[in-house]
Amino acid sequence: MKNILVTCALPYSNGSIHLGHILEHIQADIWVRYQKFLGNNVYFICADDSHGTAIMLKANELKINPLLMIKNNFLEHKIIFQKFSILHDIYFTTHSKENYYFSLLLLNKIKLKKLLIKKKIIQFYDVDKNFFLPDRYIKGICPFCKVKNQYGDHCEICNNIYDSYNLINPISLLSNKKPILKKTKHLFLNTNLFKNILEKWISSCYLHDEIKNQLLCFLKNKLVDWNISRDNPYFGFKIPNKFIKNKYFYVWYDALLGYISTFKYFCNKNNLFCFNDFWNLNNNYDLYHFIGKDILYFHGLLWPIMLDILEFKKPTGLIVHGHVLINGKKMSKSLNNFISVKKWLNFLDSDSLRYYFATKLSLKSCDINLCWKDFVKTINSEIVNKFINIPSRICKFIENYFNNILSKKMFDINFYYYFVNKFDLINSFFLDFNYKKVLYEINNMIDLLNKFINDIKPWLLVNSKKNLKKLHKISTTIINIFKIISTYLSPIIPNLFCKIEKFLKIKLSIKNFHIPILDHKISKYKKMFLRIDECIIDDLF
Ligand code: MSP
Ligand code: ZN
Repeated sequence: MKNILVTCALPYSNGSIHLGHILEHIQADIWVRYQKFLGNNVYFICADDSHGTAIMLKANELKINPLLMIKNNFLEHKIIFQKFSILHDIYFTTHSKENYYFSLLLLNKIKLKKLLIKKKIIQFYDVDKNFFLPDRYIKGICPFCKVKNQYGDHCEICNNIYDSYNLINPISLLSNKKPILKKTKHLFLNTNLFKNILEKWISSCYLHDEIKNQLLCFLKNKLVDWNISRDNPYFGFKIPNKFIKNKYFYVWYDALLGYISTFKYFCNKNNLFCFNDFWNLNNNYDLYHFIGKDILYFHGLLWPIMLDILEFKKPTGLIVHGHVLINGKKMSKSLNNFISVKKWLNFLDSDSLRYYFATKLSLKSCDINLCWKDFVKTINSEIVNKFINIPSRICKFIENYFNNILSKKMFDINFYYYFVNKFDLINSFFLDFNYKKVLYEINNMIDLLNKFINDIKPWLLVNSKKNLKKLHKISTTIINIFKIISTYLSPIIPNLFCKIEKFLKIKLSIKNFHIPILDHKISKYKKMFLRIDECIIDDLF
């Protein structure tokens, strides 16, 4: 049995959970459910990222106390993930005493290891607003690739991170004026000595080749010292004055530590003693992070450095996805294609989106396009017409002629084991995060089963007693193969799978899924999944 800790990136506390977030949580949740199915010990944790300027300014804009805002969003986020069948073992927040504890612990270690640098820097200051401008409130030309309209911390085109004063032609987004440069003292983490450690970790970490190359490419440039403090006003943890006066921890510093503090809170709450084991360098416990490609720098460079300083184990793998596009376009409020998950659930169910995203997910981090026509077509043809149609094609026979009891023997046991034996292939694709291939294989299986039904024509077998016996065995075989395919699909469409288990009157697990159900009474067939009406899509907008 493996011990695995899985995380998704911590969503910011300043807005609703949207389809981009949910893609990541679906990708992780499918894998977690599959690992649990295999019998491994998995903890799936997440939290709100509750600090930073964006949150402070959003609360100002809404004229509410930031503490109240993060609390409201936290409650909403937690419920939304539950409604989407995301099986977090804990959903916490970075605004916690546990997280403050680890923020200080790390700072002390940084100091102890002589990696803390205090230096004066010049930073942009908005004179209109009397405010040191945070990186996300300045835009300008990227100093690396020279593309316009990039934020002050990180370029969305070349993915480099830099200090805002390196931006060319900066402009304040708060006042639309050119900000002035002002001196201010900050705390920096010296990252320079970590190049070899990072190279070693990158070579052993489970990463797609493209991601590995991107990280090595980042490493080719000299690692810059990382500014871990921010000026007042800020919404976050105050750094003790003995380190520096009147400054706060930078949101990314305590956000990453949120993985540790969330797990700590979870262990304490559940009286688990595995916290130290999980982070212990000598244990082979696994740690997987699911993240979007925009935050690779933080997880692929800064996070392993922080863990190294803490003498904690580094990630086993980073699973990096691309961005969700709607009909080929970036999701945005201004394009009116921004869909919150709350809104989605008012019109459509969660399994349909889980399934659709899964058809597109693998270790590759290309963007994931949600095209409405294709979505409706995929769900109606693959789930409704092909998959869930299978029991409906034969259940009337089982009900009318056999009182819903399956036969004692199967018609063709080898045909049944053909599907059971697909397990190894499906298993390898799941373990490789390649849901796209899982579904490709499953759809081939479904086609094969439908062809079997077409060829054998069960409806022609109701004419004699002898044929009825055959029909009984044939229907039983079909139900049993349907059970195997459903088990393979279960991590992807958990709600529908629950209904299937009720229909089959059995609880399926790794231990019993391959054992045929014979001489067994199933439930009366009821519709389990509804066809999507195209009009719903219009209503959704
Ligand atoms: N708070 C940070 C993460 C801190 S982790 C220690 C953050 N938050 S976020 O809310 O902006 O994003 C959370 C996750 O959602 C990230 O992995 C991000 O890549 C992902 N997505 C946010 N918008 C997205 C899309 N439009 N499409 C796909 N995923 C994107 O970053
Ligand atoms: Zn750039």
